[in-house]
Amino acid sequence: MSIDKEMQDAINEQINAEIYSAYLYLSMSSWFEDQNLIGFSNWMRCQYLEESMHAMKLYNFVNERSGRVVLKPIAGPETDWDSFDGVFQHVAEHEAHVTKLINNLVSIARKLNDYASESFLMWYVDEQVEEEATADEILTRLRMIKGDNNALYTLDTELKARVPAPAVLPIILGQPVV
Ligand code: FEO
Repeated sequence: MSIDKEMQDAINEQINAEIYSAYLYLSMSSWFEDQNLIGFSNWMRCQYLEESMHAMKLYNFVNERSGRVVLKPIAGPETDWDSFDGVFQHVAEHEAHVTKLINNLVSIARKLNDYASESFLMWYVDEQVEEEATADEILTRLRMIKGDNNALYTLDTELKARVPAPAVLPIILGQPVV
């Protein structure tokens, strides 16, 4: 059974929101690079890839359900922030917003008795718990170390070690995840 148009259109909106998230985190990566915080910049590049994967997982799902992906213009992201913790405050608020969007998609799936979409969207529900927790953790650490450059560079070194999850590239390419 192909996907209901209302569900398809709502998922297409979410594809846009996820690509916007990718664009926002790439903008933050560029900002951190300008601050010579290469670890933070790397963490944001990884986040950019994760968000691209979130978008493409939805994209693949619409196609699998014989729907039609329609891409829309992407809004320009913010490009400047006042402080390091200000960036992560923005991340935390943005992820809380995305969680609301995902919850709304689940509500639409339930209203339509679209169990396939509801089941698929549970991955995003779980993912948002992790996304919000990670943003809050880094925000808390930045608030604790405010003004302590040694602690800041220690955190930067830690964030430099982040690599994209193994599933990111296969999902972006529409290949099986092994
Ligand atoms: Fe795709 Fe960060 O939520």
